[in-house]
Amino acid sequence: MATFTTIEEINKYEGQEVLIKGWLYNKRSSGKIHFLQIRDGSAFIQGVVVKNEVAEEVFKICKELTQESSIEVIGVVQKDDRAPAGYELLVKEVKPIHIALEGYPISLKEHGTDFLMENRHLWMRTPKQNAILRIRDEINLAIRTFFHERGFVLIEPPIITPSACEGTTELFEIDYFGENAYLSQTGQLYAEAAAMAFGKVYSFGPTFRAEKSKTRKHLNEFWMVEPEMAFVDFEGNLKVQEEMLEYIAQRVLQNKKYELKILGRDTTSLENIKAPFPRITYTDAVEMLKKADFEFEWGDDFGAPHETYIAEQFDRPVFITHFPTKMKAFYMQPDENNPEVILGADLIAPEGYGEIIGGSQRIHDLDLILHKIKEENLPLEIYEWYLDLRRYGSVPHSGFGLGLERTVAWICGIDHIRQTIPFARTLNRVYP
Ligand code: 4AD
Ligand code: MG
Repeated sequence: MATFTTIEEINKYEGQEVLIKGWLYNKRSSGKIHFLQIRDGSAFIQGVVVKNEVAEEVFKICKELTQESSIEVIGVVQKDDRAPAGYELLVKEVKPIHIALEGYPISLKEHGTDFLMENRHLWMRTPKQNAILRIRDEINLAIRTFFHERGFVLIEPPIITPSACEGTTELFEIDYFGENAYLSQTGQLYAEAAAMAFGKVYSFGPTFRAEKSKTRKHLNEFWMVEPEMAFVDFEGNLKVQEEMLEYIAQRVLQNKKYELKILGRDTTSLENIKAPFPRITYTDAVEMLKKADFEFEWGDDFGAPHETYIAEQFDRPVFITHFPTKMKAFYMQPDENNPEVILGADLIAPEGYGEIIGGSQRIHDLDLILHKIKEENLPLEIYEWYLDLRRYGSVPHSGFGLGLERTVAWICGIDHIRQTIPFARTLNRVYP
């Protein structure tokens, strides 16, 4: 009796007969031998079917197998150093479950990305896309584990909200029984409430931005993890960010070697993700850009070329701190030594991946937050509950938001964020 296994775990069965349940990804045949590329979702492996070594019927079935047919295969596991999984299968038996129709849309030749995105439901079966989403899964779990082990409580904020937080121009509006409501841009304000109830919390969910951007860094629906911590200041906030990213990188390096290999990811830059990270103030970053002949004024926002240039000056992610207060969201705590700048930072990833974290200490003074809400012309009545946090036992607190997809793109070393989420929502795409 062959033992059932996934391809991922096949190293446990060298020299033994195993059963694999999966799909035919590709096939090459000569008169005497078929090479089956088999995938089972966990990994890919080559099955070798030699005419003289299998029943006539088995060899014939292999001839009829079309791309993406589902199959059960029995074979003997053999070491093969050239294979990404490190093994191949000497096939004994093949049982078709479903012979796929002719004309599978994704052939093994090159396709344009638009075509592939249109067929995302099938594209995710291919080795690279599969590896990216498996690394996403690992990063997801790393984030949850990191916070859980440190005593943070997971709190789910609502997705339907009455208010804006990160700028009113990027809201998806919905009709909520005749009233205006919006898809959440961030769970932060609710995380702040929860931090006053639980001390340390994090939210982790989908967030929505109605940005009409077509860059390789923007999605209209993306996932963000947002920790929020009572009694933690600007310094303490950066420390958690460094430790979290080091932890994520180490876990991926340790547990996702096969996937990184499939992606051809150069891992040296990932090995560098060790705390502490370098820091530069916004004001110093502006000077740095001017020296490098960029046209840039204090108060301007960084574009991709600026972020890339700054990141290139360091060998690991870099914090840009103390942005001008005017540039940033209303809730950020101004520096008491210089209220023109805030006690917050963006974390810029290396290799041109840009901002992956935005965070800050929050304003905890009632009068100041009231003043800021009015200054931004935000409707005071729907922020009453948020003001209560400053009325009843207010404490200095801090938090940040890490974009999951930008992090996955960077860790995987791939060029576009749309490949890092199972079904991307972008300016021109809500299908499939
Ligand atoms: O800098 P942002 O807008 O910060 C916030 O929303 C804060 N409320 C977070 C907090 O302090 N709790 O977004 C945080 C991160 C960015 O650094 C980026 O990684 C990601 O979210 N992000 C996007 N990712 C993909 N597509 C977009 N359109 C994104 N906008 C932001
Ligand atoms: Mg930001």
